[in-house]
Amino acid sequence: MAVATDDRAAGGGRAGTRLAVILLGPPGSGKGTQAQRIAERFGMPHLSTGDMFRENVGRGTELGRKAKPLMERGELVPDEIVLAMVEERVSRPDCDRGFVFDGFPRTLPQAEALKLICARQSFHPTVVLHMVIERGALVRRLTGRRICKAGGHIYNVYDRPPKRDGLCDVDDSKLIHRADDTEAVIGDRLTAYDRQTRPLVDYYRAQGVLTDVDAMGAPDAITQAVFGILAEKS
Ligand code: AP5
Repeated sequence: MAVATDDRAAGGGRAGTRLAVILLGPPGSGKGTQAQRIAERFGMPHLSTGDMFRENVGRGTELGRKAKPLMERGELVPDEIVLAMVEERVSRPDCDRGFVFDGFPRTLPQAEALKLICARQSFHPTVVLHMVIERGALVRRLTGRRICKAGGHIYNVYDRPPKRDGLCDVDDSKLIHRADDTEAVIGDRLTAYDRQTRPLVDYYRAQGVLTDVDAMGAPDAITQAVFGILAEKS
């Protein structure tokens, strides 16, 4: 049964529906860009494991100290560290009506663990949006990306520049260039994606919960497509 997305955002929606949305795709495919918009429209939190790790690195926590060297090399953080962090996060009250995951799960053990978490906490249905993009577009997107330090708003110096150089249009905060958005590290991140994360496409396709999204178009066109898919599934 389709539910009007505006009703959901206003607190409505089918009784018992707690949507678990997963954005799956290589680095730079637009997961974060679309996850922000879905979260806003559907009134669910945007959960980025990458952002959680970067926040811990910034605060110098033990978790951050473990994650930092791995992230700098473009490698994945071990599953047990990721899973403890995720389970705690989805048990918070703001996830009561569901969540949008960006960058998780990234390995088969993470996907299996998420399945158990969803079953235990009655999140249903799971919707996996697979961002399909040509490899050649990724390096330009990633090297050009700038992110607002305060609110996480995403820009691109080539295709979506801020109105004022180095400053966020929304909240005036400073824009940063991620340490792993260099050509050398991007290659290793793509290798990690191919080896460890790409198998999840077949895993979720076999379960009938995955929808391919053409991620080569303009951000607004992709958002319209994604909203349409979610309105049907919720
Ligand atoms: P993470 O932060 O998750 O990075 P990622 O997966 O590499 O993805 P990105 O954030 O780089 O890209 P995106 O797809 O979100 O693209 P975006 O929307 O920003 O992970 C970083 C690291 O943390 C990992 O390497 C790992 O070490 C660790 N980690 C995180 N989660 C983990 C886990 N579960 N397990 C283990 N380790 C984990 O867009 C990119 C750019 O393109 C932007 O400039 C944007 O403006 C532009 N853009 C977006 N859409 C379009 C479009 N349609 N057209 C043109 N430009 C566009």
